[in-house]
Amino acid sequence: MEMTQKTTVQDGTGDAAAPRGELPDAQAVADSSRPELGSVELELAGVNKVYQARRGRVEALRDVNLSIRRGEFVSLVGRSGCGKTTLLRILSGLLPPSSGSVTANGQSIWRGASRNDEALKQVGLVFQEANLFPWFTIAENIGLPLKLRGVDRKARAERAEELCDLVGLRGFEGAYPRELSGGMRQRAAIARALSARPSILLMDEPFGALDALTRDKMNLELQSIHAATGATVVFVTHSISEAVFLADRVVLLTPRPGRIRSVTSVSLDRPRSADTEASAEFQQIVRGLRVELDEES
Ligand SMILES: Nc1ncnc2c1ncn2[C@@H]1O[C@H](COP(=O)(O)OP(=O)(O)O)[C@@H](O)[C@H]1O
Ligand SMILES: [Mg+2]
Repeated sequence: MEMTQKTTVQDGTGDAAAPRGELPDAQAVADSSRPELGSVELELAGVNKVYQARRGRVEALRDVNLSIRRGEFVSLVGRSGCGKTTLLRILSGLLPPSSGSVTANGQSIWRGASRNDEALKQVGLVFQEANLFPWFTIAENIGLPLKLRGVDRKARAERAEELCDLVGLRGFEGAYPRELSGGMRQRAAIARALSARPSILLMDEPFGALDALTRDKMNLELQSIHAATGATVVFVTHSISEAVFLADRVVLLTPRPGRIRSVTSVSLDRPRSADTEASAEFQQIVRGLRVELDEES
């Protein structure tokens, strides 16, 4: 069986080859180990972003088209400055697109420049920095999104405990962020993002500040969390091997302006392990993407 199916995007056609609303590589997905992928959950159509900076205009994204299915894990890779964070901020309601549409389960996230908070209830966010409140315990930090939604203290504590189990922080509910390692703080940030049971998890280089060993461990953990929650994940990284290890599809962005260059399906069996990374298929996919990245500069 073909291990990868790649769609290379021609000028201006975005998500390559398929009519909107249909996964371009639906066949590859159906053939893979993830037959349970559901309907389209997240959809970007004709998304453009231009920053009006003091030193002039920066075209950060041009005509980005992408449909992501429920439960799918999509990695977004590309050089620094190619618009990965911009794209994630648009998806997460932090930054309006200049034009184009972004929908989560059919609900528009943006109506012009105003954000639709109802649609964003389905979305959880994790950044490179954990951004925990130092004066709150880990459980309190994890429960914060629930507090903002009016969930009572007891239910918050229960959910925090459940999530500490899920992310490997059992026993640290009452600890303070300063008492945790960087990797553990990132686990807490993931737990916090999951607290309100979002169906979509957006992650911007969540392990970028961690050492290599911790990062490998976190990738395994994230894989388990993804399997346990069934969440749809958009994961930004500049590590190609990390992107491939985790993803059902890898989306490669090119800089200035940021646009989708290619979408690569990764149909390696799950769960993946260190053996996966040693496999010829894995290395072939990684090599192919590296070549593409190199062609960009
Ligand atoms: N607030 C901003 N104002 C002006 N330009 C910006 C702003 N944020 C990002 N940019 C520019 O947009 C481009 C994409 O940035 P970004 O999305 O942060 O890329 P990445 O996350 O891939 O490194 C870069 O050229 C960057 O300099
Ligand atoms: Mg970034």
